[in-house]
Amino acid sequence: MLDILEIESELGINTKAAIIEPVQHPVLAYNGIHLHIKRDDLLHPVISGNKWRKLKYTLLHALTEGHKHLISMGGAYSNHLHALAYVGHKLNLKTTGFIRGEQPIVDNPTLTDLKKWGMNLEFITRGAFRDLRKYRNHDAEPAKKYNGFWIAEGCANHDALCGVAEIVKEIELDFDILTLACGTGTTLAGIAKTLPASKKVLGFSALKGGGFLEKDINKLLHMKGMPNWTVNFDYHFGGFAKTTDELTSFIEEFQSQNNIPLERLYNAKMLYGLLDLIKNGRFKKDHTIIAIHTGGLQGDRK
Ligand SMILES: Cc1ncc(COP(=O)(O)O)c(C=O)c1O
Repeated sequence: MLDILEIESELGINTKAAIIEPVQHPVLAYNGIHLHIKRDDLLHPVISGNKWRKLKYTLLHALTEGHKHLISMGGAYSNHLHALAYVGHKLNLKTTGFIRGEQPIVDNPTLTDLKKWGMNLEFITRGAFRDLRKYRNHDAEPAKKYNGFWIAEGCANHDALCGVAEIVKEIELDFDILTLACGTGTTLAGIAKTLPASKKVLGFSALKGGGFLEKDINKLLHMKGMPNWTVNFDYHFGGFAKTTDELTSFIEEFQSQNNIPLERLYNAKMLYGLLDLIKNGRFKKDHTIIAIHTGGLQGDRK
């Protein structure tokens, strides 16, 4: 019988490290908001943040069915593929990653790691990549073709929701709202599914035109009644992986005040958006908000 706790210990996952810290920022005291950050980025030096949360029960599912080959897809800086390749390397499993676009002449740090950890890389056209997105189930076409276990882009599947739920269970501090960055919306869905009715989760889309998010989150949730979640689409800074001088200055200022590392793709945009909404009086005085740091610092290496 496979024991997920043994696997976590083998990989070196440390949930105790994912502490909750108070955030310092001038707008907080002025607006009467208590902001904390859950440091899921400290869960593991490589499989940080929501990457492990989403992979945990997906991996257990694959191993329980006896699979030894995990197949997935992502961009050339994908945090998801990075975590998957590391897990494969540590647990002696074969991994294959379909990468969007042409193979670069010089590997970036993510691709270098994927190769180092033995992931079989297949560079495919953007069109072929878009086509792969339709496969969501573990036994979908690529699983059959490559004789393995298929994991949808960003680990967007129902198994992922159980691992994400553990983030909420670890929070001992009383709070009103949880916030986090969204890509596929899977992490938000796992949180929304677990939250008591009195609490809400607010996602910040890292993508421009992330309109598909609401549909995908609803599909994952099959929830009835009033949704306890919303997604804000106003702080993508021009689109996925796009940045501005304003965002760069914000990161520098935030890091100097808090000693918490941020990457530009997800967490900095979420925190910028959240603090901007607080500044504009969009939350009730005395509310406690916990922002979830979803890790991903590796994806911001040059
Ligand atoms: C660091 C980081 N934060 C947030 C997200 C968004 O998570 P999700 O795709 O579950 O919405 C991702 C992508 O998985 C990510 O790599």
